[in-house]
Amino acid sequence: MPLVTSKEMLEAALEGHFAVGAFNANNMEQIQGIIDAAVEERSPVILQVSQGAINYVGLSLATAMVKTAAEEATVPVVLHLDHGASFEQNVTCLRAGFTSLMFDGSKLVYDENVRITRKIVEMSSVVGIPVEAELGKVLQSRDNVSEADVRAAMTDPDQAADFVERTGISSLAVAIGSVHAMEAAEAELDIDRLKAIRAKVNIPLVLHGSSGVKESSEVEAIQYGISKINVATMLNQAFIKGILDGYAANPANIDPRKWLALSRDGVKEVVRQKMRLFGSSGKATASGFVSPATSHRSAELGHLE
Ligand code: G3H
Ligand code: ZN
Repeated sequence: MPLVTSKEMLEAALEGHFAVGAFNANNMEQIQGIIDAAVEERSPVILQVSQGAINYVGLSLATAMVKTAAEEATVPVVLHLDHGASFEQNVTCLRAGFTSLMFDGSKLVYDENVRITRKIVEMSSVVGIPVEAELGKVLQSRDNVSEADVRAAMTDPDQAADFVERTGISSLAVAIGSVHAMEAAEAELDIDRLKAIRAKVNIPLVLHGSSGVKESSEVEAIQYGISKINVATMLNQAFIKGILDGYAANPANIDPRKWLALSRDGVKEVVRQKMRLFGSSGKATASGFVSPATSHRSAELGHLE
């Protein structure tokens, strides 16, 4: 089916107390693994590309691959810009056909984050494309962050309410204890902070850096309004494992497909497990996604073509 926007999908998730996985892809096999898992699980899915992925694949090829994979899929798929760094990048991705945008102004001073986010929302809302933005900072594990650093970077609930009101965003990425690119799931989220944010903000909330979060904590966070969960590092680990396993089994092989097929299967299995954990399995229909309010709700509103 044609790509849909994230707005209706995340609102259905919020209402239905599940989360949609937003899976990062850097190449064709990762896209295929993600979409295949979604189809088999009957799950809505967000496929997201970062600036790094765009640099690696090229914007038009990345967009074309995801669009084609989505059109062949029988579940709703969103193409999302992950951690968009500027107004210009958001405009470029909107023009390319992305159906969900993000501006990450978390490193900017607050008023500048508000200003640029608002400008992107004004621009993209003309054609009905939703925008995610980040408040507080989800830090990077490569910066050797301490617990005190993570705590100091957490989202302030009152500021979150002000930010949502002033920017008009459709979803908010919150810093509640996760750190990007952790290689083991060890972090516990600050659920009390999430509850305090939820009490003041009624749009869908987004968890970044999920690869480093304990599954039990993710499940609890979904109950308190996390509706989109970003997963990248775990998929890269599964991808690399496929290549290493393929090499170990047959180091003389010179056909890349034999190893990349193992990588694709590995990515697919991680995505499948996450969809089950997040409760999104079984929430897609052939024409849209299920929500408790409208058991067979069409995603027609989210269609762009
Ligand atoms: O934006 C992407 C994510 O927040 C992914 O984080 O690599 O820790 O899973 P992760
Ligand atoms: Zn992130």
